[in-house]
This record gives sequence, structure tokens and C-alpha cells, in this order.
Amino acid sequence: MSELTREEKQALIRAALDARTRAVAPYSRFTVGAALRSADGQVFTGCNIENAAFTPTSCAERTALFTAVSQGVTRFTDIAVVGAKMGEVNELVTAPCGVCRQALYEFCGPSLNVIMAKTPDDFIERTLGELLPFGFGPANIE
Ligand code: THU
Repeated sequence: MSELTREEKQALIRAALDARTRAVAPYSRFTVGAALRSADGQVFTGCNIENAAFTPTSCAERTALFTAVSQGVTRFTDIAVVGAKMGEVNELVTAPCGVCRQALYEFCGPSLNVIMAKTPDDFIERTLGELLPFGFGPANIE
């Protein structure tokens, strides 16, 4: 259960929409933005960054996560994700891919609130535990 106000969630969605404008997606033409909020209220954004060799592509969520972790921030409460084909209105919300769910689980565990948005006024929320039930994390290999 997120403790953010609706206005704080909308600000996070706007940050994700802004990050999406910097997506590098010449191959799929599907642009994604993510905004990850840390436990101390900082916001780290990311976009998808594609690569001609395809495999090195980074999703927006992992770009945001690794940016935060590389700056020493490892505790998070919420992430907003937006995605759509270039120049099109998105009919579906963009949910984090399986790899990003796993990467987020490592640092956030099941309680992370995932805000999947079309616009600041049109979004759904699920916990990471709902998106990745029985997640495998650091506790499993202790
Ligand atoms: N993508 C993301 O950035 N996040 C997701 O959760 C789903 C997929 C990107 C990867 C690729 O650049 C493009 O969207 C199409 O799959």
C-alpha cells in the first residue's frame, strides 16, 4: 500500500513521461519512461535505451534502478512506468517486463508500489509482489 498522495503519484507519472521523451528506441519505436521514488523522497528517472545488437538494450525501469543504485540509493517505495509506440496513444498500460520485475525485486522486495500509467489521471497500481508472486530474492540464497 503506497503512502504517496495522489498528487505525489501524479508528479511521479509526470517525471516518467518526461523521461520517456529521452528514450532511444529506433528499432521497436516503443518508448518507455520510468520514475523510481526512494524511501527518502528522491526521484530517479530512466528511459529505454536500445542497441543495434538488440541484447544490450536496457529497459526504462532498469535504467532508473541502476542510476539510483549507482548513486548509493537502494531503498524505494514507488515506481511509475509509462510506455507507448512513438506518436501513438497507448491503449494498454505498460507493465514492467519479467527481467525488470526481477531486478526491482532484488532491491525493493514485494512491497514496491508499481504505478502503470497512461496519463497522470489514468493509472493502475499493483505491488511488485502481485506482479511477481513467490519472487526469488536475496533471502532465498542466505
Ligand atoms: N521496455 C521497457 O523499457 N520497459 C518495459 O517494461 C517493457 C519494454 C522497452 C524495451 C524495448 O526497448 C521496448 O520497450 C520494446 O520492447
